[in-house]
Amino acid sequence: MTYDDAIKALSNDALKFVKDDYIIGLGSGRAAATFVKSLAKLIKLKGYNIKGIPTSLQIKLAAEKGGIPLVESDQVKHIDVVFDGADQIDSQRYVIKGGGGALLRENILFGLARKVIVMADKTKFVKNFTRTVPIETHLLARGLVTESIKKLGGKAQIRSSVRDYPFFTENGNIILDCNFGTIKNPRALTQKIKQIPGVLESGIFLKRPDVIYKAKDGGRFDILQ
Ligand code: A5P
Repeated sequence: MTYDDAIKALSNDALKFVKDDYIIGLGSGRAAATFVKSLAKLIKLKGYNIKGIPTSLQIKLAAEKGGIPLVESDQVKHIDVVFDGADQIDSQRYVIKGGGGALLRENILFGLARKVIVMADKTKFVKNFTRTVPIETHLLARGLVTESIKKLGGKAQIRSSVRDYPFFTENGNIILDCNFGTIKNPRALTQKIKQIPGVLESGIFLKRPDVIYKAKDGGRFDILQ
């Protein structure tokens, strides 16, 4: 049993949170992509009238392939349920997102959601955050944000993609991956980060998931409600 088997098993289980006529937020990354495949099968099987809202081109393509009808987040007043992955989850249930660069649209969907379901493997669960926080930043605020992060005790590094080319989000912005060491108060830190001019989104989301799936070895998983 591999990581994929566990994520597949929990994706199938998470379908119990889907009802006919739902508007469903589709996060980005591997876990979200696996969920999209399960959702596409469910829609075909039950003939559900579901609309999906994608958070990236990756997921839009996967949803199109599965025949899931799509709308955009500015066309709806709320989302019934969002399914997404995470990069790290702390003991207070805060999540770090943005490893794939889709954090801005992901957080918009969290904001619209009546229910948020996060799916991740056990290696991502920590007492306090230890990984870098992705911060989507306007290109022209690069220096300002880097200096402001330093004043908050962090170290910002511009994300690059292949052969050191800078990484651009689908919104045309850069990502600063910011190392703050161990983060004991994610809410306070995020509130400060979001006050920096030129910051478009922080990878620590202030809205916490309602349900968290934790993939374990051997294709098993826990549900933390
Ligand atoms: C996309 O920007 C991210 O927020 C992803 O949801 C996160 O990186 C988790 O991805 P995986 O499911 O691929 O680990």
